[in-house]
Amino acid sequence: MKAIIVYYSLEGNVKSVVRMISNLTGADLLELVPKVPYPTGKVSKYISGKAALSHDEPELMPYDLDLDEYDTVIVATPVWAGNPAPPLNTFLATNDISEKRTGIIVSSMSGNGSKCADRIKKMIGSEPVCVMDVREPKKQDPDLLMDIEMSFARDMIGPYSTHEEWDLFDEEGNLLDMKMTRGAEIPEGCYHKIVSVWIRNTKGEYLLSKRSMEKLVSPGVWECTGGAVDVGETTLDAAVREVKEELGIDLDPSRGVLARSTKHDLMHEFYDVWVFEEDIDIADIKLQSEEVSDVRWMTKKDVDELWEKDEFNALLYYYKDIMY
Ligand SMILES: Cc1cc2nc3c(=O)[nH]c(=O)nc-3n(C[C@H](O)[C@H](O)[C@H](O)COP(=O)(O)O)c2cc1C
Repeated sequence: MKAIIVYYSLEGNVKSVVRMISNLTGADLLELVPKVPYPTGKVSKYISGKAALSHDEPELMPYDLDLDEYDTVIVATPVWAGNPAPPLNTFLATNDISEKRTGIIVSSMSGNGSKCADRIKKMIGSEPVCVMDVREPKKQDPDLLMDIEMSFARDMIGPYSTHEEWDLFDEEGNLLDMKMTRGAEIPEGCYHKIVSVWIRNTKGEYLLSKRSMEKLVSPGVWECTGGAVDVGETTLDAAVREVKEELGIDLDPSRGVLARSTKHDLMHEFYDVWVFEEDIDIADIKLQSEEVSDVRWMTKKDVDELWEKDEFNALLYYYKDIMY
């Protein structure tokens, strides 16, 4: 999949979401900038709202885009007076994306952008593969927001399957007598488990690795090691196995501390975060090159910098709770 997200954002809500989706899927970003910027503030809302109601098509700053490069085009906009913000009208009036895989992201104060999404659907002229109708992302609960973003990213990437087999659990986390193959749709009311492993040394640095550019999800970003829990495993078993597979390091399970445990209903996932304190010599690490392209010890400041540049895995948005 080669994807681009074309967006307009006045106050940064749409921008924060599209940055995350780009991080999770590797999609390119194109920001639409009107020649005459829309003002912020209460009174100006009335004028901009009127422009949206009249389906204005303002002139945009020139942009560089070759649509032939992309099979998937996502459009993203705030909801203005129940409609898309006018810069998106201009983009859709001048670019035919009806033959592409498409997706729509709308952000609003009310959280009810369905009328706006329907209007965009009509303008595109085909059925989107993914729609996100989100309420003020900058004020959202981060766990819920990540669930919404991950579920959109999964629909955007589309179905893919591997040989991995997963156990299924009920909503309380009890093991069911059911299994599934990765990539298949998870049955309603069922969950699977995923895990992340943070390894800290006695200097207070964390062992982080860079995802291979070949990965379908989040290519090229830095992260801690992690993955899905296979059949018959606990999340601790999976943590130890993932580190062995990706870094060639043997962790002692008895040294693992469960630092975080969350449930993500839209993704049908339980997510456990394990922390290990180990002084590992980088020279002893054997990278699994299809998965990982680099590994380093990093401080929280290093990660802050990567986060600002969107080069840290968005799934690890909680890193400040773990790193100190
Ligand atoms: C001109 C204007 C009109 C708006 N109209 C609506 C509306 O009709 N319904 C709604 O729920 N939110 C409305 N909002 C709120 C925005 O949709 C919401 O704050 C959105 O998340 C902003 O995205 P942004 O920060 O990327 O610009 C409006 C905001 C502006 C500036």
